[in-house]
Amino acid sequence: MAWGPDNVRKWSTLALLAIMGTALTVATDSPGFVALISQKGLDFACQQGMVVLQEELQTISVPDFSGVFKIKHLGKGSYEFYSMVVNGFHIPNPEMKLQPTDSLQLSIKEASIKISGKWKTKKNFFKASGNFDLSVEGVSIFADLTMGSDPTGHITITCSNCDSHIDSVSIKISGSMLGWLIRLFHRKIETSLKNIIYKKICKIVRNSVSSKLQPYVKTLPVISRADDVTSIDYSPVAPIITTNQFLKGELKGQFFWRGHRGPYPIEPPEMKFVPSNDYMVCMGISDYFFNTAVFAYQESGTLRITLGSRLDTRFHLNTDFLKGFLPKVAKMFPSMGVQLLISAPSPPHLSIQPSGLSFNPKLETQAFVVLPNSSLIPLFLLGMKTNASLEVDAEDNRLIGEMKLGRLLLELKQSNFGSFKVKFLEDIINYLIPTVVLPKINERLRRGFPLPLPAGIQIINFVFNSYQNFLLLEADLHRT
Ligand SMILES: *[C@@H]1O[C@H](CO)[C@@H](O)[C@H](O)[C@H]1NC(C)=O
Ligand SMILES: *[C@@H]1O[C@H](CO)[C@@H](O)[C@H](O)[C@H]1NC(C)=O
Repeated sequence: MAWGPDNVRKWSTLALLAIMGTALTVATDSPGFVALISQKGLDFACQQGMVVLQEELQTISVPDFSGVFKIKHLGKGSYEFYSMVVNGFHIPNPEMKLQPTDSLQLSIKEASIKISGKWKTKKNFFKASGNFDLSVEGVSIFADLTMGSDPTGHITITCSNCDSHIDSVSIKISGSMLGWLIRLFHRKIETSLKNIIYKKICKIVRNSVSSKLQPYVKTLPVISRADDVTSIDYSPVAPIITTNQFLKGELKGQFFWRGHRGPYPIEPPEMKFVPSNDYMVCMGISDYFFNTAVFAYQESGTLRITLGSRLDTRFHLNTDFLKGFLPKVAKMFPSMGVQLLISAPSPPHLSIQPSGLSFNPKLETQAFVVLPNSSLIPLFLLGMKTNASLEVDAEDNRLIGEMKLGRLLLELKQSNFGSFKVKFLEDIINYLIPTVVLPKINERLRRGFPLPLPAGIQIINFVFNSYQNFLLLEADLHRT
């Protein structure tokens, strides 16, 4: 491409747009965790919600209803319909559709209601009674569900609009002599009952949204307890939006130590991906999510471990093993315990690449002699470098992991009893860390970290894929 003035202008416009773009992303918090729900996921949600809505709609109470009739030559009489109960509310094809820009539309078409009840009529001295069946056909309901969030970060859902329609109501009257008389007025009766029922439907829908759906949505965690030390902040950083294919929630996705919550010197990366419609949900989990976990555990002091003299039966950590390279120490403190304090002086940075999750932790080991009265005498400080990888999986709605470590390379950083060659320690450290320290880390990783899911739902058929700076978890849902 030639770099003529035209191109320069184009490129500077692009650069300007890029700067504006950056300014915009800085203005709103970028998400460390993104959750998308596809149409398949909405279909599942709709199916689950319909079970509840159907139960609620079955509770429609139709008040007693009475009227008078007047027929030439016969004169006046009265009738009454009472004890009406809904026997069934059949909803054949409910649908939940995405609507711009923050709402869903629930649509029900061709639903039907079966109601049964009793009637009685009076005409002069004649009294008659019987049963009737009411069949309400072609019921349609359209309800808009608008999403937002409250000041505590909980997602809110309200029924912002509801419309219903009934095509026809037909009444079947059975029973004694005067049944024929009532039948003469079926149109009037049907119209009145249609109006009564019609008015109740949207009331029930609105009420179900506020008393059933909203409390359920509130079970989506905002702050999720990870363990005794840390929690995860899953509050939304932007309004929930609908695209033409997905419902999208951008969440903070940040771990924090409950003892002290400070700002982190890292920012979430941009997560660009094309989610598939084959799964109900899709979660973008950034390296920021994992790295804030490292920071939180680091700040809380959890990333330290002390190895004492009684490690395991095969190995006794005492001054005898120092004979070979620190004879002075072995002589000064004969057969005394040695303690190793292993820590990460700076939080290791985990990086996510298409090839997987990896990091290059830099650790330190401070060695001490333990005197018989338990006082500690500092011996030396070792620096340790290695490469590590993390395999991520999910179990019971929790992210779980398994860490693997490469060989540790040592460096003597400081010694109180003279210098020595670290290669004397390489074997023992490369034995201790993978057999004593790593299993403890993996035990914690196996217990996992909670994903943001509402109550009673479990992810199934899931797959993980890693991309530049984030992991993508795609899954279906299932009721537990
Ligand atoms: C432990 O013993 C050492 C050496 O005998 C002594 O210097 C130190 O003061 C003792 N510490 C305590 C806490 O008694
Ligand atoms: C560490 O790096 C080596 C060499 O690149 C590689 O073969 C090994 O798989 C890595 N180990 C881990 C646990 O990442």
